[in-house]
Amino acid sequence: MHPKRKILVIHGPNLNLLGLREPDVYGAVTQKDIDKTLKTIAEEENLSLKVFQSNSEGELVDAIQGAAGRFDGILINPAAYTHTSVALRDAAAAVGLPVVEVHLSNIYKREEFRHHSYMAPVAVGQVSGFGAYSYVLGLYGLIQEIDKRAGDVSPKRRKKKS
Ligand code: DQA
Repeated sequence: MHPKRKILVIHGPNLNLLGLREPDVYGAVTQKDIDKTLKTIAEEENLSLKVFQSNSEGELVDAIQGAAGRFDGILINPAAYTHTSVALRDAAAAVGLPVVEVHLSNIYKREEFRHHSYMAPVAVGQVSGFGAYSYVLGLYGLIQEIDKRAGDVSPKRRKKKS
């Protein structure tokens, strides 16, 4: 058995408005819907999962810094700060935890200013373009990475309890 893995989910600016915000781009899904889905997976996978959303860059930096020693990994949608924030990237690099970056939209299909991510080079990986499902894929990727770092190399332990 694994010790309970602790994951911090961070939603960046304007993601609190999902559902109302540009539904043609982001769909009808709300942050609450996403969090509910992630919590269901957390139960199945025996994870402890905490969710944090902020519109403020400093609070997001504090949340990343505060994860050191308290969480095993971070799942983050840095939203607009993806494309602007060296501070978030430096915080992620500083804590040394595995970070997985997710985006609902495919940022490479959109305006050119969205094509660059400051976070990507310090992330384990990035999932972009699958709507809310990007978070699901990102969460499984993060679990895999946490287990790998803990010395478990088997990719097959993700059997659901029936
Ligand atoms: C986003 C993409 C960003 O470019 C944008 O600023 C967001 C959301 C996404 O999830 O698709 O706020 O991160």
